[in-house]
Amino acid sequence: MEFSIKSGSPEKQRTACVVVGVFEPRKLALAGEMIDQISNHYLSDIIRRGDMEGKSGTTLMLHNVPNTLCDRVLLVGLGKEREFKDKEYRDAVRAAIKTLNESGSLEASVFLTELPVKRRDTAWKVEQAVLMAMEGLYRFDRLKSKQEEMRRPLRRIVLNVPRRTELAIGEEAAKQGQAIADGMNMAKDLGNLPGNICTPAYLAQQAQELAKTYKLKIEVLEQNDMEALKMGSLLSVARGSRQPPKLIVLHYQGNKKQKPVVLIGKGVTFDAGGISLKPAAEMDEMKYDMSGAASVLGTFKAVAQLKLPINLVGIIPATENLPDGDANKPGDIVTSMSGQTIEVLNTDAEGRLILCDALTYAERFEPEAVVDIATLTGACLIALGNHASGLFSSHDALARELLHAGEYAVDRAWHMPLWDDYQEQLKSNFADMANIGGRPGGAITAACFLSRFTKKYDWAHLDIAGTAWKSGKDKGSTGRPVALLVHFLINKCKVN
Ligand code: BES
Ligand code: MN
Ligand code: ZN
Repeated sequence: MEFSIKSGSPEKQRTACVVVGVFEPRKLALAGEMIDQISNHYLSDIIRRGDMEGKSGTTLMLHNVPNTLCDRVLLVGLGKEREFKDKEYRDAVRAAIKTLNESGSLEASVFLTELPVKRRDTAWKVEQAVLMAMEGLYRFDRLKSKQEEMRRPLRRIVLNVPRRTELAIGEEAAKQGQAIADGMNMAKDLGNLPGNICTPAYLAQQAQELAKTYKLKIEVLEQNDMEALKMGSLLSVARGSRQPPKLIVLHYQGNKKQKPVVLIGKGVTFDAGGISLKPAAEMDEMKYDMSGAASVLGTFKAVAQLKLPINLVGIIPATENLPDGDANKPGDIVTSMSGQTIEVLNTDAEGRLILCDALTYAERFEPEAVVDIATLTGACLIALGNHASGLFSSHDALARELLHAGEYAVDRAWHMPLWDDYQEQLKSNFADMANIGGRPGGAITAACFLSRFTKKYDWAHLDIAGTAWKSGKDKGSTGRPVALLVHFLINKCKVN
């Protein structure tokens, strides 16, 4: 898909389709007014007849509108003007893209980017329009024997900004949106791939390809390397699988001097729970348990495409979690790379067991900050649902930056407590700590567990168990939180 930015008059567009908004009840937005005037009130006549009331998410395709130069005009309902906010704007663009895709138009000139959205500027509107368009075009059908054919798919979208002085801002935002969308699509593809294809080795191979394309440095640590590093916790999880574990380490160097930001992504390519086996219902969804890893790779792709002036290290501990004769057993005690011992009371709390060694490994990069991203707990999904990722950090400045980035990107996180009061729940009679803290505050005690391995740097943890994928009829990976992470890094470049 090709995006471009213009500042044009809707009635003068020589294109397959011009897209204009209609507020509820029955009020044309500015661009529609202009077409209405030149067409002897063709649009307002149709609206008066009741064919388009302006309800949010509705569309009406018109052909051969008099005196225009375009083949079609698409009316898009925006809802009530007073209530037109982020969500309504995104819904309107989404609805427009869906109808355009079904219409056979090869290109479209969109006049929604000029609508005022409360507290949002042109850059935001352009970026969101690109993201919504890319989301509407995303398909994952490579594993079906016949691909569904899209007839004459939309190829080019022109986004119109209100003033010529905003062209440069619009172009920058479109570029950013495109890079984020590419990163999200990579994360979605990896998430949607089943466990028999997306193995730890496959993740490593994808990282290698990414490194080759963007000239990144990469190391893939094998089992014997992990043994040499004494990553006893990570290795204990991998023992239950026939697939060899991988520890993927990616370096992006966009800046000579600064300390790196380290991103760590949980890469459990399938989580059956191990000996503490999960119930059968929806167990297939545990193929998404590498979504943290996927978001790290997607973020690297976007950052490399944008050539951000920042240093970044990505660490992905990748393994399966399966029951096996050699698997972790409840009560087993393992020694982590940090030297701290862990009693494995539940083998299904494997995410923290692999992350703790990756967190210790991160120390060697003398990071400015470390952010781990993990589908860590069902409890987080219960606490926050599918809308917000759980954010845990006792470094207020870092937490604020992540929250702010998520707010801008509409990829929101919510700050959860990480008080020492919760640490008690991890007490073990036989080791330094247990790997579970009971049902109360399950997402918090998981974060508390991780915090014990992060004393040497500023750290934040994002629990994406509720946000990384959708269940039900629209089952599929969401590509979150790539947008949050990329904006976090873009903002870091601004202050540095
Ligand atoms: N990958 C799961 C977390 C998960 C569960 C994500 C459901 C999304 C939906 C993780 O490895 C896990 O199994 N966590 C356990 C921890 C418990 C044993 C303390 C959980 O949440 O049930
Ligand atoms: Mn698990
Ligand atoms: Zn898991």
